[in-house]
Parts: sequence; structure tokens; C-alpha cells
Amino acid sequence: MSSRCVTLFGLMGAGKTAVGEALADTIGYDFIDTDDLIIERAGKSIPEIFQQDGEKEFRRIECEVITDVGAKMGQVIATGGGAIMNAQNRALLGRIGLTVYLKASAHELYQRIKNANDRPLLNGVENPKERLQTLLDEREQFYLEADIIIDTEDLAVEEVTDRLIDELARLTQGDG
Ligand code: S3P
Repeated sequence: MSSRCVTLFGLMGAGKTAVGEALADTIGYDFIDTDDLIIERAGKSIPEIFQQDGEKEFRRIECEVITDVGAKMGQVIATGGGAIMNAQNRALLGRIGLTVYLKASAHELYQRIKNANDRPLLNGVENPKERLQTLLDEREQFYLEADIIIDTEDLAVEEVTDRLIDELARLTQGDG
């Protein structure tokens, strides 16, 4: 496999961080989670950024972080679920390597994240499952543009990672 980046897309709960870490470990790449870099840069948690500065400011920092991250090769990059909505993010992440959509239904995503409280887009929302479906409806057209799509619905992290490694090997055959 060449030293281009692998970027993981998908909604909250898709497994971007867990699969990204496992993949990076296996292929010997650095792992980067853009949410972590945003927290570091802002000096506060994601719910605090949303609450104190608003979503617009969060998206501005997210775009800044992705621009910086894109300057380095040989990384597995887990993005926040909404990063795909910014055309500049999409163009950059598409240019620096292969993109992967970790697909799952709103029902399954909700089961995976219903006990977490670090997603401001779902906190305090009356029907979080419906909100996830709305976000999926808005975003999936862009997620589906990824080079690799893995249906994670009934799969464990290890199974998703194995499938992804197979797909990457297939796509990069002969890349040197
Ligand atoms: C968001 C997803 C979150 C985080 C922020 C906004 C979104 O990341 O970036 O809460 O817009 O879907 P994860 O997808 O890693 O949960």
C-alpha cells in the first residue's frame, strides 16, 4: 500500500475512531481523529464549543484542522460526522488518498450511541433516532461518494477492519 491517507466518513456511531485506530495499527500508519484536534485547538470539549461558541465556530475550527491534517501523508483520519458537508473538506480529503464510508442505519447508530452524552447535535433532542435519520438523509449523498463503502450494520469493529483492509489491498494493488 502506498503512503496516501485513508479517511473515514460516517455518522456518529459509525465506528470511525475504533476502526480507524485498528486499521492504523495494522497498516502502520499514524491515527488522527479530527474531533480530538478540534478539542485540543479550542481548549474545550465539543459540547462546550457548541454551547459557548456555536456550531458555526465548531465547523470553522473543523475545516482549519482538516486543512492542517491534509498536509501530511501516511495517516488514517477519522472525521466528525458533519465534516463531509463542507465542500473544501470533501475536496481535500478526496485528494490526499482514499475515502471510506462506514455505513449503518439510523436505528443501529442510535443503539450504539444512545448512552453517550458527548454529541451536542443529539443532546436534549426529543427524538434522537429521528434526528439521526434526518442527518443521514442530508449527508448520505456525500458519504456515498467515498471510494470504499462498508456496511457495518451487524459487524463488530474487527470484522469491519478486516473487510476494509481487504478492500484497500484490492484498490491499491500495483500502487507500489
Ligand atoms: C458531529 C459529529 C461528531 C462531532 C460533532 C458534530 C456531526 O463526531 O464532530 O459532535 O455533525 O455529526 P463523531 O461523528 O465522531 O461523533
